Formats: sequence, structure tokens, C-alpha cells
Amino acid sequence: MCGIVGYIGYRKAYPILIKGLHRLEYRGYDSAGCALVTDGGNLEIYKAKGKVADLEAAADGKDVSGELGIAHTRWATHGAPSTTNAHPHVSMSGDITLVHNGIIENYVTLRTQLEKRGYVFKSQTDTEVLVQLIEFQQKLRNCSLEVAVRYALKLAIGAYAIAVIDKKNPTRLVAARKASPLAIGIGEENKEFFLASDASPIAEYTKQIVYLNDDEVAVIERGKDLHVFTLQGEEATAEVKEVDVDLSMLDKGGYPHFMLKEIFDQPQVLRDCMRGRIVNNIYSSVTGQAHEVSLDVVLSAVSNHRRELLRARRIVIVSCGTSWHAGLIGKQLIEHFCRIPVEVAYASEFRYSDPVVDKDDVVIAISQSGETADTLAAIQLAKEKGAFVYGIVNAVGSSIARNTDTGTYIHVGPEIGVASTKAFTGQVTVLTLFSLALGMMKGTVDQQEYQDVLAELVKIPEKIEVVLKQNDKIKEIAQQYVNCRNFLYLGRGYNYPVALEGALKLKEISYIHAEGYPAAEMKHGPIALIDENMPVVFLTNHHARYQKVISNLQEVISRHGNILAIIHKDDETVKKMVQNYIEVPETISCLSPLVSVIPLQILSYHVAVARGLNVDQPRNLAKSVTVE
Ligand code: M6R
Repeated sequence: MCGIVGYIGYRKAYPILIKGLHRLEYRGYDSAGCALVTDGGNLEIYKAKGKVADLEAAADGKDVSGELGIAHTRWATHGAPSTTNAHPHVSMSGDITLVHNGIIENYVTLRTQLEKRGYVFKSQTDTEVLVQLIEFQQKLRNCSLEVAVRYALKLAIGAYAIAVIDKKNPTRLVAARKASPLAIGIGEENKEFFLASDASPIAEYTKQIVYLNDDEVAVIERGKDLHVFTLQGEEATAEVKEVDVDLSMLDKGGYPHFMLKEIFDQPQVLRDCMRGRIVNNIYSSVTGQAHEVSLDVVLSAVSNHRRELLRARRIVIVSCGTSWHAGLIGKQLIEHFCRIPVEVAYASEFRYSDPVVDKDDVVIAISQSGETADTLAAIQLAKEKGAFVYGIVNAVGSSIARNTDTGTYIHVGPEIGVASTKAFTGQVTVLTLFSLALGMMKGTVDQQEYQDVLAELVKIPEKIEVVLKQNDKIKEIAQQYVNCRNFLYLGRGYNYPVALEGALKLKEISYIHAEGYPAAEMKHGPIALIDENMPVVFLTNHHARYQKVISNLQEVISRHGNILAIIHKDDETVKKMVQNYIEVPETISCLSPLVSVIPLQILSYHVAVARGLNVDQPRNLAKSVTVE
């Protein structure tokens, strides 16, 4: 989704802006642009439909001097992807320019009013309204840029993160946010400032970061302290955070695509996710010799909120996409270990469903980016209704992390590929730890099972490594499916959400239609689709209902379905029944999604590559969906 970068300082702004835009490419976009106040005091704007490389080509040979600039990657919402609709947008006088993330919902009304006052619009965007409105307010009140920004934003309904510059005052950059993230990096002695939608474009220059809160306007001036104001003009505190982003995690590390790197990252990042959260207790005998080892979960967010969590009569999980699939696994884990009823809602439906939620409910919000607009709105609604909100988030310092009452980071590092992979396994790992910790606190988890699950959980990274070694075999299998038009994914119990996730992975990056179903539900409709041309990916690696899954498999075979089975190693029965199989190591049922999702991620990756598609930035998709 759209990305903002800004710079004011003593270095050339242009290379910093371009590098920053590249860092934000993972969010997904369809056009890019930048504005510079050049050494000669001119405002130069360069824009291009397509990629950041197209923008660089558009600016090639032109004046890219200047130490103040703003830049943007746009993901079209109002008006098609085009150079005209790309940001920055410029006010009618040509003095003020602005980039914007989010949506101005009342833009039609505002535009009509401004047109009546003689303002002429060039684009179809909602954004252009803002820049004209700021100029109108500045002229009306004869005020500074930041005051005009405040007055304009008071009239705007919707979501925004904006960066604005006025070429008449090239020492100043104004930024503001509401429901769309914006981070400000502070350089040494305030000599320079960096602005971005997240910390990744800033991290290589400074660790000192201020995240703007909703309805705040920042005035950023070279050589001066950063000042933040409310929309009413009162000075607010700019809380400086020390943010450490591992830059090597932002590179592809020798892999052809971020998605493949992130699939292969999983063993290590899951170790990181568990580090310090699963601890060894060694009990010594009177002789001083260690004789008994037990494992324990340490989740400070759970132990610090004992009262709120223990009084939960119900848990509601809100999330979207892959995070919603992780939520479905979370439901089974929490109900099993904690004996608390759990509902899993799409955040987009929850927020408009007049939900019955009160102070005895705990709402768990799951999000990789921590910026998903629907999930954020669901959190706000849950809080208004008095629920205690727990976040399971990857992006540190993100809006969801800051707006929840407490939470646990999944700590799997930045996920750049639009298709979520390592975030899913990180979310399932944290949900497992959460349910064990809460179950232990409630006394609903069997002690032996608690130990068994933890002992097995720490072995999961090794088991994922075993699956990753089959990358070449999966690549070969993938070639058989490159020209298929439909897929069915079937699984039961803990593997039903994995079937949904496998289908989502395939459709989002290979553009092949795919659906996930609970295996037994197939005979209530989807079975009509099955013939020799319909590939069926069958998750059979499930202990508890293995025999039932075999019966479902027979039903597909009788209709000549083309089966690719995910099986436990050495499952000779299934091997003989199916066209293709991928072996995964055995594990206990509740942890099986962590291994069985891996071959499905790899399969969709290779199918998409073989189809010649842009795996990391699939069409129409954004990494961070910051509009509803
Ligand atoms: O950042 P979030 O986890 O809140 O994002 C939710 C979905 O937009 C996301 O999972 C999406 O479905 C992915 N592209 C799936 O791979």
C-alpha cells in the first residue's frame, strides 16, 4: 500500500528518497513520484506510472539537487494508476506540494466547495483536495504552513498520513497522521530528519524514531527540535523511541525473491520467536545433581495481565487474510488448552456487525504489518465496548502494537514478500505459547500435555528444515500444475486452516483459482468439481482423524481427482493411493500446521515462478492494507 518518504537536512535529498522508496516497495504500489526544493529554490516534481525504477528514469538528467524533498509510492484507490494521479500533488499556485497515504472520505464535498472558489483540479484523486485545501486555508488566514495544515485537516474526514512542503519556506517540512502510520527519524543534533511510513527507510541513518499519533501534526525544521502539535494547536510530547531494524533482514540474502528467502528464514525466525519464551527449569536433588528438567512458557503479557485474562468469558479473534487463518488455528488451541469459547471474525465484518462485546471479553488482534485498517478499527471498537485487547503483531512500534492493551510480538523480522509466510508460522507459534501460558494459569491444561507440546515445539524448526530440503522435489512437482486453472485444498481439524492458507497462497501469487475446504465438507458440494483435471491438495498428516481423512481421500480417488498429498514420512498407504506426495516429519496434531504449511508455501512459489509472475509484488495486492 502507499508509502511515504521525506528528508530535510544537509545531504542531497534525492538519493535518500529513492532508496527509501525502494525499501517501501514491499508494500505494493502502481506509481511513484517525488518533489524536491532544488538548490535554485524551484519545486521540481518527477512522477511515473509503474515502479521506482521508472521514476528514476523519468528524473534522469533533470535537476535533482536540493536538501528537502518528499516522495511517494501510490497504490490506486481514487483514480487509475497514472502519472497524473501519482503523488506528489501540487497546489494551484505551485508553491505547496504534498504526498498522502489513506483516503479522504469527504473529498467530493471539499472538492466541489474549492471548485466554486476557483480551484482547478488536475487529477481524480482524493489527495489533491488536501493540498488545495491547505493552500486555501493559508491564504484565508495568512498563516504558516503548519497552521494551514491543521485547519485543513480539521475539515477532512478519513485517514491520512501526509508530508507537505512549501517552496517559499525550504527549511521546513510538515507531517501529520490519522489512522495511517508515519515515523520521523531524528538525525544527530537535529541536523537532519527522515520521514517514512515505517522505520525501514530510516533505519540506516538513525535509531531515534518518533511515531506520530493520530491527529498530530509535526513541524520538522533543520537544526531545531522536533515539535508536535494536536489539531487544536496544543504542543504534544514527541516520544522518541530507540528502534533497531536489522538491515540484513531487508535484503534478499542471495535468494531470487523475498518470498523464497522468507520461507527459508522460518526455522531461524521461529527459534528467535521462541527465544526467552520457553525456558528450562532444572530441579536439583539434595545431592546437587540436576535430575529433572521441565519446560515453561514465559509470556510477560500473559503474566502481567492475569486479572483481565482470567476473567475472560469469551475470546474474539479479529484479523484479515493469512492472519485470520492463523486465528482459526488459535481458536482450536485456546479452546483446547484454556477451555474458553473463541470466535474468529474477519476484522472488516466485525467492525460493522454491531458485535456483542463487553468488558468480560478479550479480543485478540492478529496482524503482521500492524497497520491493517480494518483490524485497527476492530480494535478501536472493541476498546470502546470495554474489552481487553491483546495484540499479536510482527511490526514493532506499528499502530496495532501501540493501540492494543498488551500483546506479544512474533519477532520474525520484516516480511517483504506480499504473500505472508514466516508471519503465519510466527503467529501460530505465539498463539501456541499464549494458549499454553493461559491454560497453565487457569489450570485447564494437562501438565503432561503441556510438557509434551513444549518439548515438541522447540523441535519444530528442525522439522521445517527437513521439509525445506525437499525444495527441488516440490519445484518438480509444481511444473505439473503450472497450467491448471483451479485447485482444491482439503484438510481437517488443525489442518483445515492450513488448507485455506495453501489456497490463498496459490491464488494471490499465481492467479490460479483455489479454494480450501474441510475435507469432510467436500461431499456437500465441491465434490461436483472433481474430475481428472482438478488437482486436489490433501493434508493427510493428522493423527487424530487419520482414518477419516483416508475415507475422504477415497472419495476423491473414486472421482479420478488428481491428488497431491501432504503426508507423514513413510505413510506407505497414502503413497500408493495418490499421483504425488510430499513427506513432512511427524509431529503432534496441534503443531502440525507449522510443518504442513511449508510445502504449500513452496508449491505456490514455484507455480508462480514457472508462470513468470512477479512473486513478491503480485498484481492488485498490497503488503500493508491501510485502507478499508
Ligand atoms: O498485516 P496483516 O497481517 O494485518 O495483513 C492481513 C492480510 O492483508 C494479509 O495476511 C494478506 O492476506 C496476505 N497477502 C496474505 O499472504
